[in-house]
Amino acid sequence: MPAIAASAPGKIILFGEHAVVYGQPALAVPVRQVEAKAIIKAQPGGEGIRILAPDIALRSELSALPLEDAVGKAIRLTLDALGVASPSACTLMISSTIPLAAGLGSGAAVSVAIIRALSGFLGHPLPDEQVNALTYEVEKLHHGTPSGIDNTVVTFAQPVYFIKGQPIKTIEIRYPFTLVIGDTGLVSPTSVAVGDVRRAYEAQPELFEHYFALCGRITTNAALSIQNGRINSLGPLMNDNHEVLQKMGVSCPELDQLVAAAREAGASGAKLSGGGRGGNMIALVEPDQAQAVALALEDAGAVRTIITQVGK
Ligand code: MEV
Repeated sequence: MPAIAASAPGKIILFGEHAVVYGQPALAVPVRQVEAKAIIKAQPGGEGIRILAPDIALRSELSALPLEDAVGKAIRLTLDALGVASPSACTLMISSTIPLAAGLGSGAAVSVAIIRALSGFLGHPLPDEQVNALTYEVEKLHHGTPSGIDNTVVTFAQPVYFIKGQPIKTIEIRYPFTLVIGDTGLVSPTSVAVGDVRRAYEAQPELFEHYFALCGRITTNAALSIQNGRINSLGPLMNDNHEVLQKMGVSCPELDQLVAAAREAGASGAKLSGGGRGGNMIALVEPDQAQAVALALEDAGAVRTIITQVGK
């Protein structure tokens, strides 16, 4: 049996993180410069599924993984979906260039790659809709109450305008634009930030509903601007979104510092992206400014920068 390989890209949220958990729209795009990969091959004479994931120091048999392990859950859900109780012996190798717990969708991308590789290996590659649904189940381990945006953008590898519980809406970006992504290097599990926002919302529901609605309006305006080619108006909208996220308590000094550095270096707007409290921020730039903004971010403490063209 030949080895089967599958991959999935990283992602960034352009607008609407956190508010999307409460029913507001959000915009997210794939980031193809980073990816998770799964390769699976038969292990004649072996037994069960052996997993090798050096990036997360995981080397284990499936049977030894606890039920709450995300890799194990992605494998078990795939086997259940295909009605396979005892798969033929194989080795699953997982690697990823997507930084962990940094808002770039590493958990979702690893799950998508595993589900695609394993279902292909078992002779029944699952359709994207089912890959997406299974990945959403795994995301619950990472996030608790995920909106579903991460698994959706990573599975379909398309820009999405996402509203929880509504049919998936991919968007065509006819007027490409350039972003610089800056990584604070602070590892920040999304579940912690999402849980803190939940508690703050429960303590002050009216105030947080106001914040979520503001984020929703910003996202809707951004989607219209993208569709109509008014890319210049995205910068100020990013600044507005960052300000609301600060008020919601999900920024941190390191993110604020990178956001300020990007704006000073000429970005027309910048904001945190994803769960916050660390992880990544994004800045909207003219293509010829991208290098200078990336350097300014590195001077201000970014451990990694990525320049990405959205819509190409
Ligand atoms: C995480 O990438 C985005 C959040 O809005 C959580 C979610 O939507 O599940 C913070």
